[in-house]
Amino acid sequence: MGPPEEYERLRRECPVARVRLPMGATAWYVTQYGDVRDLLADPRLTRPTINDWPPRPDEPTDQGPALTTMMELNGPQHMALRKALAEPFSVRTIQRRLPRIRQAADRLLDAFADGGRPGELVGGYLEPFPLLVMCELVGIPYEDREYFLPMADAALGALVTLEEGREVTHRLREYVRALLDRKLREPGDDMLTKLVRECEPDALREESVLSFGLSMLVAGYRTSTMFLGNAVVTLLTKPGRYARLRDDRALMPAAVEELLRHIPVMNGVVLLQAVEDIELHGRTIRAGEAVLPVIASANRDDTTFPHADRLDLNRTGNNHLAFGRGAHNCPGSHLARAELTVGLEALLDRYPHLHLTKEQPPTWDDESPSKSPLTLPVDW
Ligand code: HEM
Repeated sequence: MGPPEEYERLRRECPVARVRLPMGATAWYVTQYGDVRDLLADPRLTRPTINDWPPRPDEPTDQGPALTTMMELNGPQHMALRKALAEPFSVRTIQRRLPRIRQAADRLLDAFADGGRPGELVGGYLEPFPLLVMCELVGIPYEDREYFLPMADAALGALVTLEEGREVTHRLREYVRALLDRKLREPGDDMLTKLVRECEPDALREESVLSFGLSMLVAGYRTSTMFLGNAVVTLLTKPGRYARLRDDRALMPAAVEELLRHIPVMNGVVLLQAVEDIELHGRTIRAGEAVLPVIASANRDDTTFPHADRLDLNRTGNNHLAFGRGAHNCPGSHLARAELTVGLEALLDRYPHLHLTKEQPPTWDDESPSKSPLTLPVDW
């Protein structure tokens, strides 16, 4: 479940490599820590929409509304939205919500225990937990999940299955638009209600709030699920790791950072496009060309993290890039950290002797560049 072995050689021998992506287009693959860190925050690179990239000269230019998540917004509109999100996503707000986050975990674990042993932990807990937490905080009805999850996943996988990604765009937008109308009629104690109320022509535009709602569906829970799933596998596959964390909870903050660094989920998922020519390691990235700063590779760069491939639950000075950098860095990072911490703590408390079953190994999604378990049969 580690990052591809070639990354070590690429960092050493070809830190800016031209690659062909599954959908046929080419991009520059950037693998060293310093370059990835700098490019993520470089104003000469923007995030293209899935309607703009890769360019298809044969297709008509007007293809209807783009998906336009926050990742594709730029300039003052993006800044206004980030400003409005700063307080609801702040450390203080998330700290205040910790008891509710823990209740959500315990509620799901109650239901999981009722299913009897052995149990399947991804569907039973690791997947619904971040989704439930995000839905409650943002104000998306959790009970609508059967409707929006397949579309959100298709949009998220748009880099791999582009056409399918574009197809769901329209329906996802309509879902969020209807939700925003409902927030005006039936306000709740949630982020969408707060943002809808702040909508004024010169402050936060309706389009931005729509963008935020869409971003939550495509970026607000799936990454947390993948990290949680990988974290549990990482702790259970090496003898003693799970027990160490169970018996020494003071380790938790450093352990969470180390898991975020070590788990290679952010594997070439951030796609940038150059707006002007950029020189890097003797190569020229031309304006219009795509760049993939590979966070999963940067986080394993030995020149920054001593013995980078080793998981060290005590590691200090852990400046990993799991949450990106610059204007588009992850606004949900405090929430994601809380989900990982509380998600693991609730599991350690409830199942001090949790282990993988011998009969059924975990199954994995081998298609995706971001590996995470699809099923995780466990006993306790
Ligand atoms: C372990 C879990 C998570 C990881 C590793 C992660 C990582 C990232 C990264 C690397 C980016 C930057 C993408 C770019 O530069 O284009 C990003 C953006 C974003 N993330 Fe997260 N994320 C996680 C969880 C969350 C959660 C829980 C939320 C909200 C509930 C969230 C909301 C967002 C949003 C809205 C953006 C776009 C920000 C913008 O473009 O201004 N993420 N995330």
